[in-house]
Amino acid sequence: MRHFLSIKDFTKDELLEMIALAQKIKKQTKQKHFVPYLEHQTLGMIFEKSSTRTRVSFETGIYQLGGIGLFLSSNDIQLGRGEPMKDTARVISRMVDMVMIRTFEQSKLDEFAKYSKVPVINGLTDSYHPVQIMTDYLTLLECRVTDPIVAYVGDGNNITHSWLMLSAKLGFELRVATPKDYACDSAIVNEALEIAKSSGAKISFSHDPKEAVEGANVVTTDTWVSMGQEDEKEERIKAFSGYIVDSNLMELAQDGAIFLHCLPAYRDYEVSEEVFEAHADEVFLEAENRLHTQKGIMVWLDNHIDEDIDE
Ligand code: CP
Ligand code: NVA
Repeated sequence: MRHFLSIKDFTKDELLEMIALAQKIKKQTKQKHFVPYLEHQTLGMIFEKSSTRTRVSFETGIYQLGGIGLFLSSNDIQLGRGEPMKDTARVISRMVDMVMIRTFEQSKLDEFAKYSKVPVINGLTDSYHPVQIMTDYLTLLECRVTDPIVAYVGDGNNITHSWLMLSAKLGFELRVATPKDYACDSAIVNEALEIAKSSGAKISFSHDPKEAVEGANVVTTDTWVSMGQEDEKEERIKAFSGYIVDSNLMELAQDGAIFLHCLPAYRDYEVSEEVFEAHADEVFLEAENRLHTQKGIMVWLDNHIDEDIDE
């Protein structure tokens, strides 16, 4: 059995298999051909943070695969009143076939997975948002970006960390520009750079958005204030001044460069209204692709249910 906790846990071939499955299932879905790959299966969806896309895409996705999704907000289940993660895992995983969790520390997700009898999917933690970045990769392929040079401008957060791991595994170029005090987690950076040695990925860090975007063919950003950081909003907005992705910055990218944003987007903070609307087709394709990518990942995990996790 395999869990989907971080991109770093998979080989390049495995990640590309998931993307290929997503492409196949997306094509079938567009033809209204709903193959019941996960017939009668239940996906438990535990949310300790808010969500629009993750909830709707997983719930719709499992339904289209022939199963059903259970929305479990921590406000409504005993987890929110202090029932331990490991007990929650041992109960829920005896009743459902797969679990998706959105939580705070990665260690809480890891603990759930350790005690779970069924595959567990990371639906966002403070450290990673791997289903999002797999989706972003599918989207850039669909936008005909074959040799990605990705510029990430903004906070060194869960989205950035997932880009780091995907770049390191697949071997494409990633340039990260963050303010000095909001750089990526150094342990994650070191791990990604170690992995990148085998794939040949070129990964660079700076505090200069222009340096990152110059000649890139994918420009991306994320909110400056992630869920759980609301108390730091004022100081963050000051620290990120100069990190907006606006038309002046986008002009430095390659002609025809695409812009991606995991959403929700805060206009005129991390991205200007003008850039956002100019690239709305790409951004909302990216949002839709959450549905297709996660179906690919769920089917892939189900296909590997008999594998030993340590293999
Ligand atoms: N991008 C993303 O995960 O969106 P939600 O927070 O709405 O799920
Ligand atoms: N970095 C953001 C991503 C939201 C999808 C957050 O964690 O809130």
